[in-house]
Amino acid sequence: MIKKDDLELKMKQFDLAMSPPDTEPERQYFYMAKAKKTVSELTKKLGRKPTFCVVTFGCQMNARDSEKLAGILEEIGYIDNGEDENSDFVIFNTCTVRDNANQRVYGRLGVLKNYKKKNPDMRIGICGCMMQEQSVIEKMKKSYRFVDLIFGTHNIFKFAELVANMLESDDMLIDIWKDTDQIVEDLPIVRKYPFKSGINIMFGCNNFCSYCIVPYVRGRERSRNPEDIIREIEMLVADGVIEIMLLGQNVNSYGKNLDEPISFAQLLQRIEQIEGLERIRFMTSHPKDLSDELIAVMRDSKKICRHLHLPLQSGSTRILEQMNRRYTKEQYIDLALKIRREIPDISLTTDIIVGFPGETDADVDDTIDVIKKVGYDNAFTFIYSKRTGTPAAAMENQVPEDVVKRNFNRVLETVQQTSKNRTVSFLNQDVTVLIEDMNDQDDTLVTGRMSNNTIVHLKGDCSMIGTLQKVHLDECHGFYYIGHVID
Ligand code: SAH
Ligand code: SF4
Ligand code: F3S
Repeated sequence: MIKKDDLELKMKQFDLAMSPPDTEPERQYFYMAKAKKTVSELTKKLGRKPTFCVVTFGCQMNARDSEKLAGILEEIGYIDNGEDENSDFVIFNTCTVRDNANQRVYGRLGVLKNYKKKNPDMRIGICGCMMQEQSVIEKMKKSYRFVDLIFGTHNIFKFAELVANMLESDDMLIDIWKDTDQIVEDLPIVRKYPFKSGINIMFGCNNFCSYCIVPYVRGRERSRNPEDIIREIEMLVADGVIEIMLLGQNVNSYGKNLDEPISFAQLLQRIEQIEGLERIRFMTSHPKDLSDELIAVMRDSKKICRHLHLPLQSGSTRILEQMNRRYTKEQYIDLALKIRREIPDISLTTDIIVGFPGETDADVDDTIDVIKKVGYDNAFTFIYSKRTGTPAAAMENQVPEDVVKRNFNRVLETVQQTSKNRTVSFLNQDVTVLIEDMNDQDDTLVTGRMSNNTIVHLKGDCSMIGTLQKVHLDECHGFYYIGHVID
């Protein structure tokens, strides 16, 4: 991240007739200056500033990447058109973790094609995890010729350069890297919320769970230096952020491969010292790497939120082994109960996959047994999706659809029951709520989150957005509360 003033000073120093610098991020500053010039010519031609729209699919990592794309587009002179895809530059930041994510992208690209017919100056970019699959690129080249720019997850840092080149050409520009060990810091970012922010602490994943495509599309695990992370959080706090979400596919292995190794728990302790920062969240924790040190740091912290997302995937030891998760049913339960013992008010949430190859009703019974024993506050349940290139896709015993549906419903019912039981336990308590938005349906209400991530609606107005409020919880409606502010 870089401050706007500092960036503009740097951009002014370039002679655009010269060749660009070879070092990063200076090279990108050069291309931002160049693109800015082209966009100002476009502005003259249109008689208004051109608009952009970034559509994000998938996880928090992608959401953060989209903020980086928006940061550059605003810097070079585009204005944000919100969610209106009828814009001068539309970018789809895609996800490929399950096939339905891909299908949604293809469907919406069809809509863009019609917009482009009416607005020939329109540019369409597509990036993110789907673009790291060779078969997708082939399909783009064949059936989606109206797309102007295609790039992947590893070279997103050179977005400014790609845009500058795209604006000067009418051909489809494709730039995909297989992998990278580079981490480029100090690029502009615009946040969706002024008061909270995601922040990458690591990229990629080395776990190769047998069903999962993420390691193939996000590359090998790389941790950012703790100093860079702290510096970025300090800048965010100076800019009004009070809650941060540390992002990584497996935050528990953060720092292990740095030249000066540091544990995730140690990083959290350093972040806790940052004055003005009120809340710390993180995502995601792999159960196999969750240390006692982390539990102790969470327990003793005033800022780390009372929420842990601990993906189970399956409760059957046999299936877990096939999934390459590297823990057993019993180890997972012991860990979850230890966390509940040490931090009783913590909210535990999870991800579950139903229908992994070879899964029987008895395996699903094991999953249901874990759900009951742990008593999740919330759980995301997914139907297994076959991802080409992963070991599980080559397994022969894929489960028939009707069996998967039946078991999915059994799991969902159990999850809904336990989460209802857990949520209600906070009724009539006084809690702290970070107010995040106006309520969608009722403009006399605002919506916020408790430390444990549970949603609360309460009377209020937009001046409260971004503030922490003491709230009494009056009514529990299953997954959320109605409360009121107390002094
Ligand atoms: N790194 C995170 C998960 C990222 S993907 C972690 O390990 O927890 C988010 C979730 O998508 C996973 O937890 C898993 O439950 C689900 N998922 C991943 N691959 C899937 C697949 N092929 N089919 C269905 N669900 C999948
Ligand atoms: Fe996928 Fe497993 Fe890595 Fe999570 S830890 S991203 S599920 S391979
Ligand atoms: Fe999807 Fe990529 Fe995230 S595949 S879940 S957007 S890392």
